[in-house]
Formats: sequence, structure tokens, C-alpha cells
Amino acid sequence: MKVLVIYESMFGSTRKIAEAIAAGLAGTSTVVVSSVNDVAPESIDLADLIVIGAPTHVHGMSMPATRAAAVAMTKDPRRQLEIDGKALGIGVREWLQALPPASALYAAFDTRRDMPRLLTGAASRSIRRNLSRRGWRQVASRSSFLVDDNETIKAGELERARAWGERVGRVAAAALADTSAS
Ligand SMILES: Cc1cc2nc3c(=O)[nH]c(=O)nc-3n(C[C@H](O)[C@H](O)[C@H](O)COP(=O)(O)O)c2cc1C
Repeated sequence: MKVLVIYESMFGSTRKIAEAIAAGLAGTSTVVVSSVNDVAPESIDLADLIVIGAPTHVHGMSMPATRAAAVAMTKDPRRQLEIDGKALGIGVREWLQALPPASALYAAFDTRRDMPRLLTGAASRSIRRNLSRRGWRQVASRSSFLVDDNETIKAGELERARAWGERVGRVAAAALADTSAS
């Protein structure tokens, strides 16, 4: 099974979660991890499964203004934050807007603060809504991974991401086997 793990990340946490998910998937699949800024929406044709994740900004997917706010945060020396290597450019919202009409199997994830979801929102919810509207098939429940107020991934979350990746891989492989048998 060929899997494309696509992420957006301003400070690096969603990238690290994407890499942990990819490590979990690697047992069952050939996995490529890419920033949204490195993968053309048309290239999804090459994958059996797309795993896609983004940081939660203002309860949902980022927008140019929220990404600019994240860049502004890195200018505050008290915060000691750096912009991640592939952060600048588009986000998942714009990547989804450029998708061709084709549909595929997917699983969605996000990073967000450790508070009740009603207070934080979750980018993966917006991703799911967008892809479901297009007829994409979700293979496993979306998942949120938690970062603290200093933008550090909370203890245990990388391990949870790896385990989620393993589960997504198993369920997707079964779904693909079903499709080819029928
Ligand atoms: C402009 C902005 C808005 C944010 N809004 C939310 C929010 O509504 N809910 C939340 O849980 N986290 C919010 N956050 C925190 C992000 O979810 C957090 O920075 C992100 O998970 C870190 O991932 P990254 O390192 O991959 O950018 C916001 C962060 C920024 C910069």
C-alpha cells in the first residue's frame, strides 16, 4: 500500500506528529511524508491512502492571517519559537481547495491545545468535513494530538501518533483488500 502523509506545520509540532504517524504506518506500507508546500494536489493519484494533518488555528484550519500571526509570534524573543522549514506558503485549507475531483481513502489529524475540544476546535474536523463533502472515504476516526502553551508536544503524544498510524495502516489495508475482492 502506498501512503502519502501530508502536513502543514508552523512551529514543527504537526510535522513531528506526521513523522511519528508515518513510522507507525511503515510496517504495512510505503510511506512518503510531505509538507503541503511540496506536494501538488494532483499527485494524490499515486497513493492508496492520504493521511492529512494541520495545526488548529482559531478552531479550524489555518488561514493566511493566522499563519501571519504565527510568524509574528516568532518575533517575540520571550517565546523562543522558530518557523518550521516548510511552513511558508499555503496551508491545508488552500491545498484542499486545489484538489482535483478524484476521491481517495483518507485519515485526518491535527495538533491543538490540551483543553476540551469545545473550547479549542480541531482542524481535523474541518478537514473531514471538506473531504467527506467531496466523497472521500474516511478509514479511521480523526485524531487530535496535544501541544502545550509553549508549543511543545505533550508527553506520550508521539507514541500515540505512532500507534494511530499503525491502526490507520491496518484498517486501510483491510478496506483496500475488500475493494479489490468485490
Ligand atoms: C494564530 C493561532 C491560532 C490558534 N488557535 C488555536 C485554537 O483555536 N485552538 C487550539 O487548540 N490551538 C490553537 N492554536 C495553537 C495551535 O494549535 C498550535 O500552535 C499548533 O498545534 C502547533 O502546531 P505546529 O507546530 O505544527 O504549527 C493557535 C495557534 C496560532 C498561531
